[in-house]
Amino acid sequence: MGFRILTLNNISVRGLERLPRESYEVSGEIGKPHAVMVRSADMHHTPIAPSVLAVARAGAGVNNIPVDSLSARGIPVFNSPGANANAVKELVLSALFLAARNICQAWAYTRTLQGDDAAIDKAVEAHKKEFVGFELPERTLGVIGLGALGMKVLGYDPQITVTRAWQLSSSVQQALSLDDMFARADIISVHVPLLEGTRGLVDAARLRLMRPGGAVLNFARAPIVNERDMVAALDSGRLRAYICDFPSNALKDHPRAITLPHLGASTVEAEDNCAIMAADTLRDFLEHGHIRNSVNFPEAVLPRQGGSIRIAIANRNVPNMVGQISTCLASAGLNIAELLNRSLREYAYTLVDAEGSADEKLMQALRSIEGVLSARLVRVAD
Ligand SMILES: NC(=O)c1ccc[n+]([C@@H]2O[C@H](COP(=O)([O-])OP(=O)(O)OC[C@H]3O[C@@H](n4cnc5c(N)ncnc54)[C@H](O)[C@@H]3O)[C@@H](O)[C@H]2O)c1
Repeated sequence: MGFRILTLNNISVRGLERLPRESYEVSGEIGKPHAVMVRSADMHHTPIAPSVLAVARAGAGVNNIPVDSLSARGIPVFNSPGANANAVKELVLSALFLAARNICQAWAYTRTLQGDDAAIDKAVEAHKKEFVGFELPERTLGVIGLGALGMKVLGYDPQITVTRAWQLSSSVQQALSLDDMFARADIISVHVPLLEGTRGLVDAARLRLMRPGGAVLNFARAPIVNERDMVAALDSGRLRAYICDFPSNALKDHPRAITLPHLGASTVEAEDNCAIMAADTLRDFLEHGHIRNSVNFPEAVLPRQGGSIRIAIANRNVPNMVGQISTCLASAGLNIAELLNRSLREYAYTLVDAEGSADEKLMQALRSIEGVLSARLVRVAD
């Protein structure tokens, strides 16, 4: 028996090719799916079938996925960190130049020019002063959220992982706080996930700290910037430019705003990379119970060295889970060969390789332990 994967968006073929046809059925309409692959479809209001073991997002942000309720069901949510970072980086770099030289506004102006070429020359010389820009050397760029985007910068990311920190250029200076960064940067670029703690992170108070004539770039998520406060800062002329990936009625025609239609990850390369990473992660989870690149469960990889069966258990991160799981396995006559237990915030994950056989009665007994959220006998797809 193989695995059934429900796709909620078109996923790049290069990614889907990583799931062998003999053992994976992949479709936008499929009953009792083992896993869901998604790009930007909103999953908050769609029921997620009881058969689902994992959700994989081909992309970075997971705000379209109900992570909390899936965590409580013991379902890992995977994303594709870094897979579209270069696409975003290139667009952000171009936005830096757009902001510094008023390129879009100037181009829009030239499209309004009328008359013969001599009249156009005259108008251009008279109006060019409206689009005077600034140069980037010696300016300070502040980056909020240093995940995958490696720029030369003043950085602020209190939760950065050690691995990510090692990947950063040594020229990145650390801002002491967000307020410190706003006070020191000419241009701020936002690269944090949308969470309750980051909603409205760029607001009137912080914008007031910026040097006059600064710019904000937002290629993360729209609600991270308080739109009303942003429009006020642009209207007053204190902020020179807001360039973002999220058009709205208040912003799309604003003379100091440039909005793009969510193009950050829209390159062929990024779509392929994300789909490949999501498919590989999903396959490793379904076939081996391994967890990599999950936003809600810990990294857990246990090379298969012994044991005739493997059991994967998602549980709450509370005392005595491993003890209860081991006792339950022992009472079913199973001998543990290897056991891995990892935790991430309030959740944990346990992989057990054991000698013996597991029946549905044992799996039910494991699931009935208080704190166990899901338990699965991991099988290799055939
Ligand atoms: N426009 C697009 O098409 C597009 C494409 C990719 C990503 N994004 C958005 O950008 C976000 C970031 O992407 P990424 O690939 O850099 O993600 P990432 O997970 O690699 O990095 C996010 C970083 O933000 C940090 N962070 C979290 N909360 C923070 C806070 N309050 N203050 C400062 N730092 C904080 C984390 O520690 C992490 O290092 C994604 O969540 C997604 O919403 C948009």
